[in-house]
Amino acid sequence: MTLHRPDAQVHFGVFFQGVNHTTIWSDPASGSQIDFETFRRIIGTAERGLFDAFFLGEGLRLREQEGKILDLDIAGRPDAIAQLSALAGITSNIGLVATQNTTYNEPGDLARRLAGLDILSDGRAGWNAVTTDNAWTGENFRRGGFLDHELRYERADQFIRTARAIWDAWADDAIATSRDSEFWAEKDAVQRVSLSTSQFDVDLDSTLPRSRQGHPVIFQAGDSPTGRDFAAANADVIFSRHGTDFDEALTFANDIRARLRAAGRPEDDIKILPGTQIVLAENAAEVEEKERWVRDGQFTGPTALSLVGLVWGKDLSDRDPDGPLPSEDPVVAPISSTRGAFRDGKDPVEIAKEWRALAEAKNLSLREVAIETTVRSGFAGTPGQVADELTKWVREGATDGFNISPYIVPGGLDEIVDWLVPELQERGAYRTEYTETTLRGHLGLREPLTRRKTGETDSSAAG
Ligand SMILES: Cc1cc2nc3c(=O)[nH]c(=O)nc-3n(C[C@H](O)[C@H](O)[C@H](O)COP(=O)(O)O)c2cc1C
Repeated sequence: MTLHRPDAQVHFGVFFQGVNHTTIWSDPASGSQIDFETFRRIIGTAERGLFDAFFLGEGLRLREQEGKILDLDIAGRPDAIAQLSALAGITSNIGLVATQNTTYNEPGDLARRLAGLDILSDGRAGWNAVTTDNAWTGENFRRGGFLDHELRYERADQFIRTARAIWDAWADDAIATSRDSEFWAEKDAVQRVSLSTSQFDVDLDSTLPRSRQGHPVIFQAGDSPTGRDFAAANADVIFSRHGTDFDEALTFANDIRARLRAAGRPEDDIKILPGTQIVLAENAAEVEEKERWVRDGQFTGPTALSLVGLVWGKDLSDRDPDGPLPSEDPVVAPISSTRGAFRDGKDPVEIAKEWRALAEAKNLSLREVAIETTVRSGFAGTPGQVADELTKWVREGATDGFNISPYIVPGGLDEIVDWLVPELQERGAYRTEYTETTLRGHLGLREPLTRRKTGETDSSAAG
């Protein structure tokens, strides 16, 4: 079911990915993936473009394939909270969202670090709470690879409840407003947090007062039914993977709205921002040429060999990416999804059969098959065409905006800000100035869930 939201505006975040197969890191126009100058430039452009947020994912272990570090995954990414804290000091409006997992952190520590970012940025912090899609990451931690899927979400749920209790422990008016007051923090203004759950025993005094937006905005990324219910119970924003096909995005959004209603929340209580990529050029021929160039840059020979190797279940790095697909059949032993979820549970021999047929029909090399069979994510067109499309998505309720991954950093965001944003503004579908200063304000979110008065869970609780 589509919605009719004629005045809805598009929200933009920028998703800085680090090195993976979204980024053409090897192009001469690419900057360093870890120099502060790169982050400074890209966040400066996003703020000039009146974006809601600068968003960072997180990986606590490099992925491996057949014992070798995988070319496809994030490398060289500094810790998100450290990076965002540095960026807080050189920006004044844009939100700063850190992905931090609930499986390998502890709530007392993480709630404090996120609250620190929120206070230092004066109410601009966000937390993308993820459970991490593999237990294998646990090998980098004291407890080893533990917790299956259901338990990870059980822990995540308790984690968020505990974090909220810590953030809510200081009363709104805890800090004395007058210097004549005897105490900096009012007496009894800080409640002790004592919680005992199946995963946590917490007994602590919160060390930080509330920020201007209450506490960090909660994002969620995870797509299973349990993950979606977790979002409906806890999140302010969902970072979804449904940002390519309109009908699929709408189905996802309708599903989330139903889950929100079931959870007793207004159905517009969560904003949905899928990850996306946007390719812009002046006319159809240039768009096609640029799309091809982007995909060629993203799918280098080693990247294509890694992707196809995930299906074949073996190291193909000595093969010719511009040659044919391997003549032998894939190794049928299941590749652990912990080391590169690519097959999506499909039988590799079946995939190989389909790919061979495709290669034969279109006369494709291994690399070309990898390009052809990887789902396109995002939009391509002239700035006007893409502006029309994004406006439609938001106004018909498929999303509330997009978390854009530039394929070149730091310069790749420039054309979005210089070409696409003005087109959206002309359509009345994008802000022309920041009207709020907190991330919660930019996103048009209600006050934090735990701060809402009982009985005010309908839309009258807005504000
Ligand atoms: C769009 C999207 C982005 C994600 N980003 C991260 C990430 O940056 N770091 C991480 O550890 N997990 C990330 N995840 C994985 C989730 O944390 C989650 O563990 C995984 O999707 C399994 O949960 P699910 O079965 O509910 O999808 C992401 C998932 C999605 C759907």
